[in-house]
Amino acid sequence: MSTVAVTRRLPGAALTRLAAEHEVVVWPGDLPPAPMELWALTAGADALLCLLTDRIDADLLAAAPHLRAVANYAVGFDNIDVDAVRARGIAVGVTPDVLTDATADLTLALLLSAARGLPQAAAAVRTGAWRTWEPRRWLGLELRGATLALVGGRGRIGRAVAERAAAFGMNVECIGRDDDLRAALARADVVSLHCPLTAETARIIDADALATMRPGSVLVNTARGGLVDQVALRAALERGHLAAAALDVTDPEPLPPDDPLLSAPNLLVLPHIGSATHRARERMADIAVDNLLAALRGAPMPHPAPGL
Ligand code: DGY
Repeated sequence: MSTVAVTRRLPGAALTRLAAEHEVVVWPGDLPPAPMELWALTAGADALLCLLTDRIDADLLAAAPHLRAVANYAVGFDNIDVDAVRARGIAVGVTPDVLTDATADLTLALLLSAARGLPQAAAAVRTGAWRTWEPRRWLGLELRGATLALVGGRGRIGRAVAERAAAFGMNVECIGRDDDLRAALARADVVSLHCPLTAETARIIDADALATMRPGSVLVNTARGGLVDQVALRAALERGHLAAAALDVTDPEPLPPDDPLLSAPNLLVLPHIGSATHRARERMADIAVDNLLAALRGAPMPHPAPGL
């Protein structure tokens, strides 16, 4: 029997399955453990089930001499210092596939909300700014025939978004690492981000990229906040260069309520809920537990982090 540290209570019965075979210590808080608390939780553990809010770095690993497996409760793993885990030979697992549909659904919800100005229209109802049925007000972008550029569009979530957008009649362009990003941005009515956050993709949507986007176009981000230069995004929205932006992810998270970005017009920000369906979150827990059970048996994880 091994000791497994888990950094949050999870939905579903997966942790019961883990506890049937190992000693499981679950962080009891609703908020993430602070770094020192995380180190204390992990100090005696053989394995760790962690969240994207937990930073797994060389300092944590130094405080966890027995650690040999980490299961991230996410498909992204930019919270994990890849060089540090590789240097220790620690197995790292992620939760692909099971959150693809949930995240793609939310991407379309954001795309539609931004394209039709739903947050502003809903606010007008509540503030009394809704005066009458107005032929020239609340006009937005119709999806049929519009061009959608999916940055990182050849990954699982990008493909699932492409399938949904095609059903709305959009022309979909998937942009990979070797494609001309700027040219694609210049052609698109809507740009949606689906690439992992790496040193290569950090701030891939910077002031220049935003300036390249078509006047009146829309930006959607359900991937990672660090892909976007938020100062430049705010400026682009304030200038009216972009018609709208809809973000499920920000940098940092949570975004403080007084962050200047939130004063930008035509902006919708959600609290990173792309995978927040009952089914996706329970299946993520199942996969994270499958990864740990395999690693603790000495077998390869069924869903290892790519490249690790
Ligand atoms: C992930 O899995 O990386 C998501 O961002 C969490 O929903």
